[in-house]
Amino acid sequence: MTLLLAFSTALTAAEATQAVVYKSPTCGCCKGWVKHLRENGYQVDARDMRSVQPVKDAMGVPPRLRSCHTAIVDGYVIEGHVPADALARLLRERPTIKGLSVPGMVMGTPGMEGPRQDPYTIIAFDDDGSTYVFERRPQGTSE
Ligand code: CU
Ligand code: CU
Repeated sequence: MTLLLAFSTALTAAEATQAVVYKSPTCGCCKGWVKHLRENGYQVDARDMRSVQPVKDAMGVPPRLRSCHTAIVDGYVIEGHVPADALARLLRERPTIKGLSVPGMVMGTPGMEGPRQDPYTIIAFDDDGSTYVFERRPQGTSE
């Protein structure tokens, strides 16, 4: 196990971080988020699904935290329009959580650029259903 981990860490250091994104083929904001990841150096494998719900069920994304697309990045489950800088912090600090979510569809998030910039919260979630605030955007705001 340790050997395997060391090996995969060495591999990812030399290559771009892989992201597998499960998404709807008809959803423009999913495409926008994939583009955001690619612009930030991720190697994205985008997989179109008729319904992403079974993936969310299988990955254990709590229903109240769901958005449109679901991604797997370096073992973490990334739900919705999580910005690349928060993702980078997650991969740097590697907390023992299942993943991050930006629930729903928030105007102004990466992939959902629009006329408004709504405040939002990036939520960390774990297997047992526990959550905590990973970051708020803009920084320093409260709900
Ligand atoms: Cu979306
Ligand atoms: Cu999406």
